[in-house]
Amino acid sequence: MGNIIKVQKGTKDILPSEVELWHFMEQKALEVFSYAGYSEIRTPIFEATELFARGVGDTTDIVNKEMYTFEKSERSITLRPENTAGVVRAFIEHGMHRLSAPVKLWYKGPMFRYERPQAGRQRQFHQVGIEMFGIEQPTADAEAIAIAVRYLNSLGLDDLDIEINSLGCPKCREEFKDKLKEVIKPHLNNLCEDCQNRFEKNPLRLLDCKVESCKEIYAIPEIQAVIQNDFICEECAEHFETLKMYLDNLGINYSVNKLLVRGLDYYNRTVFEIKSNNLGSQNAVCGGGRYDSLVKNLGGTDTPAVGFAMGMERLFSLIEDKQNTKLTAYVVSTNIEETIKLIAELRNNGISADFDMTNKKFTKQMEKAAKLAEYALILGDDEILNNQISIKDLNTSTQKTINRNDLLVFLNQIKQAKHN
Ligand code: HAM
Repeated sequence: MGNIIKVQKGTKDILPSEVELWHFMEQKALEVFSYAGYSEIRTPIFEATELFARGVGDTTDIVNKEMYTFEKSERSITLRPENTAGVVRAFIEHGMHRLSAPVKLWYKGPMFRYERPQAGRQRQFHQVGIEMFGIEQPTADAEAIAIAVRYLNSLGLDDLDIEINSLGCPKCREEFKDKLKEVIKPHLNNLCEDCQNRFEKNPLRLLDCKVESCKEIYAIPEIQAVIQNDFICEECAEHFETLKMYLDNLGINYSVNKLLVRGLDYYNRTVFEIKSNNLGSQNAVCGGGRYDSLVKNLGGTDTPAVGFAMGMERLFSLIEDKQNTKLTAYVVSTNIEETIKLIAELRNNGISADFDMTNKKFTKQMEKAAKLAEYALILGDDEILNNQISIKDLNTSTQKTINRNDLLVFLNQIKQAKHN
């Protein structure tokens, strides 16, 4: 046998046993986002490298270390590491600023980052996200956070930590950066290499360094005093306070984390992350924020915007155990003709169902039913004779016999209950 070619490091096959949960996540996204007036947009998986260098920012890890970039016909092409830049490009290219604001878009699909793979971190991963254009008021920030929470809740996830922060506007942030550099400078030689590199280019990013010795330095009271002292200007502070009030009114619990700066350059004012207590070190399921200058920086009309993206692999691992991916019904019968008719009727009515095609013994069929389905629908000779059907609940092992004509009503009730 020759060498076996394996899947690339940091990538994964999504197997048939898993794909139903992926459909579930995608279906819920369609439902939750379209109820809130968002339309889906699908942009290409590769874009001009320059889009990300200018969009995401050339001081970020994503652009500096993690892009899959290649040349084709003397053009530099990059597999998208995220989708905000691509959606903004499409927004500009299709003149969407002429549509009435807000323009609300959502997306899902694969992203590519050359990162060191570990649990919850892949090189090809999937995101689902929204981008909203045209609203500068904090109502938009609150709506983005509320929709993220609603989507997570719709997947059955509620043990979540929501962290928010305000990065201020370019003006107040410059002053903050200067003050921060001033107090950190005496410790520069003791910082890790990444922090030393970021010191000049992007000092805000120092704050979310994960290296212990750096964290200790940033905990020095003198440095903490600068971090904790609200640096944002009056307008930015008002925006942030109003956002907090809206979130309070919505009953959304959050905490303010002044160290939350996010790893992409386009943000201003609001940034947020949602973490799950049930994931390991890579516990952010959602990241987002406001990016009021990006449309203009990429050549469009000045348009405020806010959005978020969620890592679908991380969502998957959280809902994996919770979700029931079983069929609703498995027909158990030795009368194959009646079975085939019933199966067609069930499927035509949107009820997932299967049966044994090889005409095995009754007990073997019951074993299969218990593995695959929630209910065994039993059509024995007596049932067929009396126009009845026996329904065995395979969770509780209770069984009852009903009139054959009442079956669909019964199964539809179960389906409804499952969806609520
Ligand atoms: P991000 O924080 O880079 O933001 O990514 C958002 C989410 O994608 C993360 O919270 C995480 O769940 C998931 N994610 C990121 N990298 C990986 C990876 N290597 N493996 C698995 N999951 C990953 C953005 O991408 C922004 N575009 C979000 C945004 C939209 N901001 C405004 N609009």
